Amino acid sequence: MKAGHELALEFLRVTEAAAIESAKTMGQGDRKHSDHVAVEAMRQVMDTVPMRGKIVIGEGERDEAPMLYIGEEVGGGEFNDEVRETFPEIDIAVDPLEGTNLCALGANNAIAVLAAAERGGLLNAPDIYMDKIVVGPSCRGAIDIDAPVKENLKNIARRLGRDIDDLTVICLDRPRHKQLISDVRATGARIRLISDGDLSAGISAAVAGTNIHALMGIGGAPEGVITAAALKCLNGEIQARLVFEAEKLGVDASKVPNKEKVMERMRSMGISDPNKVYDTNDLAPGKKIVFAATGVTDGALLRGVRFFGAGKRTHSLVMTTDSKNIRFVDTVHVEGGPDAVIRF
Ligand code: FBP
Repeated sequence: MKAGHELALEFLRVTEAAAIESAKTMGQGDRKHSDHVAVEAMRQVMDTVPMRGKIVIGEGERDEAPMLYIGEEVGGGEFNDEVRETFPEIDIAVDPLEGTNLCALGANNAIAVLAAAERGGLLNAPDIYMDKIVVGPSCRGAIDIDAPVKENLKNIARRLGRDIDDLTVICLDRPRHKQLISDVRATGARIRLISDGDLSAGISAAVAGTNIHALMGIGGAPEGVITAAALKCLNGEIQARLVFEAEKLGVDASKVPNKEKVMERMRSMGISDPNKVYDTNDLAPGKKIVFAATGVTDGALLRGVRFFGAGKRTHSLVMTTDSKNIRFVDTVHVEGGPDAVIRF
């Protein structure tokens, strides 16, 4: 694989493009349109990256998604076959717009995001739910997804050298989390309930200074894989388990996919034990991981896209396991010609 840092800058262009296009639709109340423009922009720029890329987590199966579908080959579009053959083979997990509702409503924390790795470096997770617990570097090894909430929070507090009531747990605001929320409250810890976006929330939990100390609860499995890729770069930890049972999701059985179908899909993806507990390395086993995210709307870690007369300004997070560099990239995309004024 091409050195991670070289590809990182290529992938930065990809998330920047998706963020800019979706940010143009911010607040228009049309989440599908916001997602659609992010997908189109991501796909278009992705094709200019010198790689033989394959989408392993994307917008869905081939028959349900015209672009960035699972198995789609991307990259190297401008080059002939002979040159393409020399490009590295890369698996890519994308979420062109995490938080489609957030963008449509103009709410905080929508991001454009992707993770890439050498072939086989990212779990081909099915598009179902996943129970997750995410912490930062100081709490690695202190969590157990099967332990009671109280025990996990006690251990996290001990590692962080603070009391449990000085912890903040972030959690999707969903009826399925009623018990989890009440368990967290019973410990005295604070909770930040979010309407969407457990991927960016998981990353916040791994970055000191965000005042988020753990993410807990059930969100999307694809988001779990991309979170794991980020955590490998940030030295954080995720533990996770796929969830497909209606009772665990607190919904009627008619609302979840048929269990046999889910099992079959898992087997086809190489998952033999549906109850397996995945750790960071199981979800993102790659040795050369690249992670890139660009803010669409303002968030805990990233500012949203800003538009001004002579262009746009984006704020991104780019990381690789190759280097010890965590880059926050502030890019001014100048469009205004020779007289354009660039502000600090
Ligand atoms: P979208 O970006 O597809 O809108 O997903 C947002 C999200 O909140 C994810 O961050 C999360 O993992 C998932 O949806 C939770 O799913 P659900 O809304 O069904 O609880």
